Amino acid sequence: MAELVRICSKAELPWEGEAKEFEVGDRQICVAMANGKLSAMNNLCPHRGGPLGQGLVEQGKIVCPWHAWTFDLQTGAAVHNPDVKVTLYELKVEGEDVLVQL
Ligand code: FES
Repeated sequence: MAELVRICSKAELPWEGEAKEFEVGDRQICVAMANGKLSAMNNLCPHRGGPLGQGLVEQGKIVCPWHAWTFDLQTGAAVHNPDVKVTLYELKVEGEDVLVQL
């Protein structure tokens, strides 16, 4: 069953055009901000596990810092092959807390 988990405070969220990594238990979550929208996803790139939260945010997409696979922040789909997807998580801001549905 999906679980709603606090990952950070609102003040810790990335700025527009940035991404950050957060740890929740044994999971790593990437949160990115593009075009005023926040996206939360598995921080591990589906290619070889690169840290997406250390990647660049460009034109609504995040670029993995290891081999530059690029993923759409709204769908999680890889630009070069839409069948390859990074898992997105629902993100909610409640008061000062940022929660994701894992
Ligand atoms: S690990 Fe992300 S592109 Fe290779």
